Amino acid sequence: MSKDTHTPDPRADEAPLMSHEYDGIREYDNPLPGWWSGIFVLTVIFAGVYWYWYHAGGPGKSIHEKHAAKMQTYLAEKAEYERTHKFEVNDAVLADLAADVATLDAGGKLFMQHCVGCHLADGSGQTGPNLTDEYQIHGSSRLDLYTTIRDGVPAKGMISWGATMKERDMAALAVYVAAMRGKNLPGKVAEGGKVGAF
Ligand code: HEC
Repeated sequence: MSKDTHTPDPRADEAPLMSHEYDGIREYDNPLPGWWSGIFVLTVIFAGVYWYWYHAGGPGKSIHEKHAAKMQTYLAEKAEYERTHKFEVNDAVLADLAADVATLDAGGKLFMQHCVGCHLADGSGQTGPNLTDEYQIHGSSRLDLYTTIRDGVPAKGMISWGATMKERDMAALAVYVAAMRGKNLPGKVAEGGKVGAF
């Protein structure tokens, strides 16, 4: 193939030809523009710095380290929240709740939902004891009512609500039941020891 059959290159006059030639193929001396090479070199340098910064001991944190740090903060805050917001049930807390209308309200709703089958809506008792008289089978305090509600009396047919109910709900029920005591509604005969009303 002779060179004459090639279509003449329109840039033949502008770009100088390199001196080498292989099988009749010549190469223009046509270097990449400076700005292009510059950007290329910068990306290479950037990659090196990035690798050092985030992965090879530099001050940057990798995404895993950031996640681990956030998790640690979160767990610490959660533990602190649970420590300071723990709902502890004792007689003083129940006495406070007994004065809280919203709690009594919530307790009343729960009572209608879960307890009337055995204690009746007015608490006067059926399968379960009369909760309105001034006698209590298990203990005497609000906390004793709470404990009975939570642990139940399986042998006598009172359900252990602790397995399915939240502490706050059982506390609301305890103060609601306590508030019924002393109403002395006619119903099931008194069982347990005389404890009086709250
Ligand atoms: C399946 C029937 C049944 C249901 C439902 C039931 N109870 Fe009872 N409950 C009983 C029986 C029976 C006893 C008596 C246990 C005993 O003799 O030791 C009792 C006892 C109690 C006592 C103790 C009373 C005392 O004098 O010491 C409380 C408080 C009480 N129930 C509250 C509740 C509350 C609140 C609910 C609803 C969340 C509830 N009960 C649902 C059957 C039931």
